Amino acid sequence: MFKIVEKAKIAESTFLMKIEAPMVASKRKAGQFVMLRIDEPGERIPLTIAGSETVRGTITIIFQVAGDTTRQLSTLNTGDYLLDIVGPLGHPTHIENYGTAVCVGGGLGIALVMPIVQALHDAGNHVISIISARNKDLLICEKEMEAYSKEFLIATDDGSKGIKGFPTQVLQDMINKGKKIDIVFAVGPVPLMSAVSKLTKPYNIKTIVSLNPIMVDGTGMCGCCRVLIDNKPKFVCVDGPEFD
Ligand code: FES
Repeated sequence: MFKIVEKAKIAESTFLMKIEAPMVASKRKAGQFVMLRIDEPGERIPLTIAGSETVRGTITIIFQVAGDTTRQLSTLNTGDYLLDIVGPLGHPTHIENYGTAVCVGGGLGIALVMPIVQALHDAGNHVISIISARNKDLLICEKEMEAYSKEFLIATDDGSKGIKGFPTQVLQDMINKGKKIDIVFAVGPVPLMSAVSKLTKPYNIKTIVSLNPIMVDGTGMCGCCRVLIDNKPKFVCVDGPEFD
């Protein structure tokens, strides 16, 4: 059993939880996820590990209420227990000093790109973060993202904070101004990751995205997370979740 030691609502329908899982906390790296089950009849869902505290032995998850399980999870409180947490799963993000790394996080993807931003910062990269959401009330992890970024930009669909528009416009502006970009990481809704990949491709900027299909076992056995990468079948849970 895994105890919830902290819970906070950080935006509309979006919650942060810190959960005691010392072995996962001591091993996890940026980009990895856990499979979680609330109780015996519950379904298993994948959630990216947004952070950890090794001394306290906790991992941090950030989730949006999007279905029955996340709705049930959102009703749990500090002191409640989860039945299973399996992880860390998936390949960690490949981190090195690339030079200038742009990290794009959209919606809940901001929480998921955050550990990548921290790891790139610690490896000495010049990190530029672009975060986006429909409006300012849906922006999350702003302080944490800004703390680890040399440049920090916000885009909202309605212009309520930062520039009015999409993060791809911010990225395109940077490229137009001649900014040398060595790598881009994009995490968020599939249309956002697709738009970022299409934008950077003609400039030959290496671009990594984190896929988030439905998963059942998370260990390469069920096949339900199968995707085609370069026309070759891959399982997101064991071959990813990040792909070029
Ligand atoms: Fe079953 Fe990936 S979740 S193979």
